[in-house]
Amino acid sequence: MNVSEAIASRRSIRGFLDRPVPPELIRRIVEQAARAPSGGNLQPWHIQVVAGEPLQELKAIMRRRIEEAPRGEPKEYDTYPEELVSPYKERRYRIGEDLYGQLGIPREDKPARRAWFARNFQFFGAPLALFCSIDRRMGPPQWSDCGMYLQNVMLLLREAGLDSCPQECWAMYPQTMQRFLGLPPHQMLFTGMAIGYADPDAPANRLHAGRASTSEFCQFIGL
Ligand SMILES: Cc1cc2nc3c(=O)[nH]c(=O)nc-3n(C[C@H](O)[C@H](O)[C@H](O)COP(=O)(O)O)c2cc1C
Repeated sequence: MNVSEAIASRRSIRGFLDRPVPPELIRRIVEQAARAPSGGNLQPWHIQVVAGEPLQELKAIMRRRIEEAPRGEPKEYDTYPEELVSPYKERRYRIGEDLYGQLGIPREDKPARRAWFARNFQFFGAPLALFCSIDRRMGPPQWSDCGMYLQNVMLLLREAGLDSCPQECWAMYPQTMQRFLGLPPHQMLFTGMAIGYADPDAPANRLHAGRASTSEFCQFIGL
């Protein structure tokens, strides 16, 4: 698989097979991904990979936690700006409608939508979870470096026949995650990621998220 194929075939996968990922594979990918560039070579990403018994434990914690605190815990950062303006607002609306459309869950059926969203916290059945945290003293450039690291992970996963779903929803439960991951006070969770083999029969995996046309986000100047 070349880079173009890895990019083209990467999608957020929201239904995984109950098939374990070889530990040496994910160890290699986590290491290789660290070739990502970062401003000043700070390499600000802090990565934790969770599988097996600890993953089961986290899933059980989250089953309880989403009942106790369905709206989440006091947030450490906003996953979106408070007021999402055009065209971002429409794009966000669209992806939600497309996903729930694939699942056959209408907008009015809030309990079904909530139940589906809760699957995030079971990693959509994935056997492996990855978390990326960052030092609180870092700023937007370093957060962007973390994104480059994570994209490397996702592309390398594709090369190995694996799939993923980045999951910012974990930022809804920062205190629970700080405890579970044993993060020192100066670090905070950025995002989680479900990793595994895609379930080809999962309806959610039929979703192909669209993209804005190039002219909407790029100006070619002098060419
Ligand atoms: C940082 C980040 C966080 C995300 N968080 C979630 C999430 O919590 N749950 C989810 O189902 N998808 C999540 N996504 C997936 C996006 O919805 C997805 O990338 C977008 O709709 C484009 O679709 P694609 O990844 O299939 O191309 C996240 C993506 C990124 C990059």
